[in-house]
Amino acid sequence: MDALDKCLEEFKKEAQTITTLDELNRLKGRYVGRKGILNDSLKQMKSFSPEKRRETGQKINHLKSIMEKEISQLHNMLETSSGKHKAVDLTLPGNTTPPGSFHPITLALNRIIEIFLSLGFRVEEGPEIETEYYNFEALNFPAEHPARDAQDSFFLPYKLLLRTHTSPVQIRTMEKYPPPLKVVVPGRCYRRDPMDATHSMVFHQVEGLVVAEGISMGHLKGTIELFSRRLFGPARNVRFRPSFFPFTEPSAEVDISCGVCGGKGCRSCGYSGWLEIMGAGLVHPNVFRAAGYDPEEVRGFAFGMGVERIAMLKYGIPDIRLFFENDVCFLNQFRGL
Ligand code: DAH
Repeated sequence: MDALDKCLEEFKKEAQTITTLDELNRLKGRYVGRKGILNDSLKQMKSFSPEKRRETGQKINHLKSIMEKEISQLHNMLETSSGKHKAVDLTLPGNTTPPGSFHPITLALNRIIEIFLSLGFRVEEGPEIETEYYNFEALNFPAEHPARDAQDSFFLPYKLLLRTHTSPVQIRTMEKYPPPLKVVVPGRCYRRDPMDATHSMVFHQVEGLVVAEGISMGHLKGTIELFSRRLFGPARNVRFRPSFFPFTEPSAEVDISCGVCGGKGCRSCGYSGWLEIMGAGLVHPNVFRAAGYDPEEVRGFAFGMGVERIAMLKYGIPDIRLFFENDVCFLNQFRGL
């Protein structure tokens, strides 16, 4: 009996040192195998009295069940940690995290800004919640102008509103710095337009302002022609069409020749051969006065373009709503641009 107790102790000690399935199998053979220690002990009982034989037999079977239980626990443990149950299937597709990419509006915006930076412009920004003064009054908007109507703009309490264009930053910039100036102003704008293929209540503009002595329409035209050809390609023609804005005099609308038909006229350009890309003009003397500049001393030109429109023309996007729907199939097409 003592020998059997010692045997169990030995077994437990050895079991603690087992680290592989091979070692475990050897341990199992040595103790509970057919030629193992316990079976040997059973054979030795032949010479015992019937009573002692029964007692010893029970003891041996008890030890056997303890050892077998321990062995099977060890077996499970070693099998799991050896990775047998979590084998790697190399034919499965891997877990990938797709790299992020820029939204087409950001792409167009970055490209526009990049071109103007290369021409020596600086970037200025202004608030999206604006005062009526900066959004309209200082820009020479008459009281009866339709943009001042609640139908067209989002008004807030305290004579505030969501800016309808980036032009108020012209005033803010001139208040901040003395002339000469050469800035572009990217930013988000808001109008109460019903959503359709070419209108969005939220959209982006890039404003431009150049102020110095002796600035003329020639400077405006040269700058815009250079910009348009860099953005859309050297084959494009640019034309200035007379127009009206309260804050410029003279004012113009700028068109580029249609990239689809080359200016001959097609469905893309409404059979006119031209596509409008921005408003522009020479800064009105009243705007200089409102900003504290002397219109006798400086001249300036300004322009403002819609970034969505530019992106639609550049990337061939037919509907402005695509920009705001977050459809991954649409956005994926701009990966790597
Ligand atoms: N602010 C005008 C608009 O939102 C665009 C514009 C036209 C800006 C002429 C200018 C400009 O700076 O000179 O329609």
